[in-house]
Amino acid sequence: MTFTEEINRRRTFGIISHPDAGKTTLTEKLLLFGGAIQEAGAVKNNKIKKAATSDFMEIERQRGISVATSVLAFEYNGYKINILDTPGHKDFAEDTFRTLTAVDSVIVVIDVAKGVEEQTEKLVEVCRMRKIPMIVFINKMDREGKDAFDLLDEIEQKLGLTVTPLSFPIGMGYDFKGIYNIWEQNVNLFSGDSRKDIEETIEISDINTPELDKLIGEKSANTLREELELVEGIYPKFDQQTYLDAQLQPVFFGSALNNFGVRELLDCFVTIAPKPKPKHSEERLVEPQEDKFSGFVFKIHANMDPNHRDRLAFIKIVSGMFKRNTPYLHVRHGKNFKFSSPNAFFAEKKEIVDVSYPGDIVGLHDTGNFKIGDTLTEGEEIHYKGIPSFSPEHFRYINNADPLKAKQLFKGIDQLMDEGVAQLFTLELNGRKVIGTVGALQYEVIQYRLEHEYGAKCSYENLNVHKACWIEAANEKSEEYLEFVRVKQRFLAKDKQNQLVFLADSAFSLQMTQQKYPNIKFHFTSEFK
Ligand code: G4P
Repeated sequence: MTFTEEINRRRTFGIISHPDAGKTTLTEKLLLFGGAIQEAGAVKNNKIKKAATSDFMEIERQRGISVATSVLAFEYNGYKINILDTPGHKDFAEDTFRTLTAVDSVIVVIDVAKGVEEQTEKLVEVCRMRKIPMIVFINKMDREGKDAFDLLDEIEQKLGLTVTPLSFPIGMGYDFKGIYNIWEQNVNLFSGDSRKDIEETIEISDINTPELDKLIGEKSANTLREELELVEGIYPKFDQQTYLDAQLQPVFFGSALNNFGVRELLDCFVTIAPKPKPKHSEERLVEPQEDKFSGFVFKIHANMDPNHRDRLAFIKIVSGMFKRNTPYLHVRHGKNFKFSSPNAFFAEKKEIVDVSYPGDIVGLHDTGNFKIGDTLTEGEEIHYKGIPSFSPEHFRYINNADPLKAKQLFKGIDQLMDEGVAQLFTLELNGRKVIGTVGALQYEVIQYRLEHEYGAKCSYENLNVHKACWIEAANEKSEEYLEFVRVKQRFLAKDKQNQLVFLADSAFSLQMTQQKYPNIKFHFTSEFK
């Protein structure tokens, strides 16, 4: 196969959803189709329990599972599919945002009964901003849920999408008879038998054929005909380019648990979803077909074995071929590194690979050289953009609880921050360190990992911060800026990149400060240049 053919057959995507909508179940069924796993249940449930748990064994267990399911790759009909795991739990939302910088498209799973939920809204908004092509899968059609048209309305309104159904349900819940596949023009009857790998499909090229009445009954057939007429009247016709431009989102209905409607989704997905896309670096646009390798780190995972403190850095390959034992430039360090055992990920295992292609993810063993956002190239000095930090939701001082282990503590904090577990701010006034996180659960994870992996102890102290804003001033010598820095010193800190951050203690004080210093910009993400 040629290099271009290898690129063209790759589909790298993420599945996003609110917890419990069925992401894990759908992933598992996709893997079953790819023959990557033999039976259901092989992908362990990779969600963090909803009730934020203090059970450290649970945290450890979850970390283990999330390494195993970080990337799931399989072959299907000549396509190489890479699914990147995105934690649904809101405390790990930042992890998910970062993973979204490495996908070429996403599938959004929605529970037919619950409709659009909070996490779905947040994640879809990020995808919309990044213009990531999306396919929507409405799951759990075997249960009673919302009316299909109402749900499509809700998706358009709450998620700001323009949808077009490519399949349509025939009944629902107890009365669920199957699905009409608009994309392939056939009917798929629901037997409710989840053991069947592939359901029987019946070609129906003309919806008015009496055969349809025989299959699903006259009443259902007539309802379906009316509904399909409405679909045609209301929704735009599917157009692949509009979907690729993230202006149109096709919708499929099904039941992941019953393996129903999943093949249709997958077949359409591989046909329409984007192959690896070009990516902007600060210097230029980089095309996958370029012969020189480049890639970026979007995730770092600590080793599960505390005796080996090495980590796995996940690199998305943007251009060229990644080859084992070849020196590559770590742009931030200005140094070459060689990797003797790059890992590729398959459904249940990871393997050392000699070559990987654009769209693929390789896992590189790292002893602390990488941090999230780093670029690796064959020599060119380019910097990939697009891994921003958002303002954390929680802020606490971190104190050293064992004075003899200060060195270990700082090293531990440093490395955990590089992994993206949380953000560190150093106060300008007194140099005290503040940890900001998206969820409260991370404080326990950090404390536990500092102790078990670095032999350091820490304690926390509450700090009243409403939001962190990254400061941008057109002129750092202006009187306005100098006054701001002087008057607000108590609220100023530096992040790990040495950028100035304003820690506002309330929405009101943020607003007042913004008004008082109109020429200073207050950004809510770290990436604004
Ligand atoms: P998540 O990864 O998005 O959090 O969801 P997950 O796949 O774990 O699914 C959440 C629950 O919804 C699971 O039930 C799962 O079996 C169920 N589910 C998924 N797809 C369907 C579907 O098409 N129809 C129906 N009726 N249920 C579905 P659970 O009881 O929480 O877990 P389990 O004990 O079944 O594993």
